[in-house]
Amino acid sequence: MMSILPHSSPCRRFCGSAALSAVLLAASFGALNTPLLAPIAHAQTAAATSSADPWWKHAVIYEIYPRSYQDSNGDGIGDLNGITSRLGYLQHLGIDAIWIAPMYPSPQVDTGYDISNYEAVDPTYGTLADMQRLITEGQQHHVRVILDMVLNHTSDKDPWFVEAASSRTDPKHDWYCWNDGIPANSPGVTDYQKKNEQTGLDGKKVVPPNNWVSGFGGSAWQWVPAVHQFYYHEFFKQQPDLNWRNPAVEKAMFDSMRFWLDKGVAGFRLDAIPNLFEDPQLRNNPVLGGVNRNGDPKVGDKYTNNLPEVHDVIRRMRAMVASYPGDRVLIGETYLPSTSELDVWYGGAAHNELQLPMDMLVGFHGDHDKLDATTFRKHIEEVETQVHGSQPLIVFDNHDNKRAIDRYGDGVHDDLINKLLATVLFTTKDTALMYYGEELGMHTTPQPKRSMDVPPGVPKPDGRDGERTPMQWTAGPQAGFSTNPHTWLPVAPDFKSVNVATESKDPNSELSWFEQIIALRRDNAAIRNGNVTMLDTSNPSVLSYVRTTDSGPAVVVATNFTATPQTVTLNLAGSGVNGSTVKTLAADDPSLKSISTLKNVTLPPYTSWVASVQ
Ligand code: NOJ
Repeated sequence: MMSILPHSSPCRRFCGSAALSAVLLAASFGALNTPLLAPIAHAQTAAATSSADPWWKHAVIYEIYPRSYQDSNGDGIGDLNGITSRLGYLQHLGIDAIWIAPMYPSPQVDTGYDISNYEAVDPTYGTLADMQRLITEGQQHHVRVILDMVLNHTSDKDPWFVEAASSRTDPKHDWYCWNDGIPANSPGVTDYQKKNEQTGLDGKKVVPPNNWVSGFGGSAWQWVPAVHQFYYHEFFKQQPDLNWRNPAVEKAMFDSMRFWLDKGVAGFRLDAIPNLFEDPQLRNNPVLGGVNRNGDPKVGDKYTNNLPEVHDVIRRMRAMVASYPGDRVLIGETYLPSTSELDVWYGGAAHNELQLPMDMLVGFHGDHDKLDATTFRKHIEEVETQVHGSQPLIVFDNHDNKRAIDRYGDGVHDDLINKLLATVLFTTKDTALMYYGEELGMHTTPQPKRSMDVPPGVPKPDGRDGERTPMQWTAGPQAGFSTNPHTWLPVAPDFKSVNVATESKDPNSELSWFEQIIALRRDNAAIRNGNVTMLDTSNPSVLSYVRTTDSGPAVVVATNFTATPQTVTLNLAGSGVNGSTVKTLAADDPSLKSISTLKNVTLPPYTSWVASVQ
């Protein structure tokens, strides 16, 4: 199974918050013309805080695509100083940590996921000093910095690979996955393999050793004439896979991770981590028949993905990261087929692997993301109960997929549906991962072509640019993202109404809803850390649950997943809660604000309701 999913694919699986200083907040809200927002209290109630918990356990983590967040130097491309200038906004929203997509030096074939130096910052994004300042100022704003770490592959321009590809005897040669190929007339060789026929060292015709295809199209094997060998690449050919069976690779990569941990980063998001190992016998992947979206033969990924060896590396990595103070965290890009597979990535009962492998089952359902309360209930219950008490990490949006508002939206009630997804994300018992612009209801804006110069060989347009358009800060030029009219991708056309400045003035906006629900999650003991019991469990239209804690009143959450009003009676008997009168804490329809009982509650289309039980 691969890691990301272009929009056309039929299977998405490819796939101590202190009181806020108003002065500090005001100073940084002023960044780049965004008007001041009214400060909200960030002090947690004693009841809501469990000091034994690591910080990440209740965190809201916010993914930033650095190219698209805030341009500080007028080149039309976002940068680190731009992010630093927005820390006040992030703090106000209630963000505990930002995950920054790769900002390392890179030829940008895969927009940074092709790294050519793991211990530096690409000049487009700034300098090491800028990164250090972001980390330091982030600490002042209680916003930690998590970096993306791409361990599966490097750029083909990384000096490691340049050396490795220069000669079979180069000390770095074995850092990558090389193969001499097999005779072109070997039994079972397919026409597809024959298309990649080359001349081996002995002058005989050779073809790639098996049927593996790249997730980004074409054979996964690329010929290098200088060494008369193929190398393996899961992604673009400019992203050669590292050979994790060579201990020197692990050492070099752990050293680079230490480089950043020493600088104070709070952890890493591990890119494509299940892809680290391939079958040493290079067996053919199962043939599934037909062609995939890239026109290549459709094959499974049994021998190229989620191999057991990866877990030894992850356990050593966890121990290495745990040697640093401050609960540094490992987050995994783990598109997995089931919750039981996900549990393995936590280390099961041993809890000794990733603290937060991403659950992609709740937010990315497969063929057609559909608002279906039954499916949501099943996946949420599973991840809450079947991972040996580990902490779920739920996510609906990222830089690789059409935005959730467009996947789940119906084009009519998108704002309510976006609020509903946020309600689920922030009121379940999880660590919440969101993507920049999700809080505004930013839409996917398909790009006819890239507006930046891209290296030869890069597919144009990148089918994923639509979810990577510049952050919409204001209704002014370039949405306040840049002073340069030539931004790397065009600003989405709806920026005049969908932007931080406008939405922050509207109490009913999506931004206001996100602020409200994130604040509730932080300050309400039941939502922050209470147990979850699903209610009305056979209802296909309404997802409802109760959160219970010894430290305060229970909280019920109900969300209408349909375009028609739904009336529910929520019976708390099975959850051990005695009260029956309720007080609304948050509702996105006025009719829900005065509800006082759990009997016959009518939820208008796609509405969300959160209430405490008295
Ligand atoms: C997953 C990343 O999210 C995606 O953007 C990238 O193209 C691949 N991994 C390869 O690094």
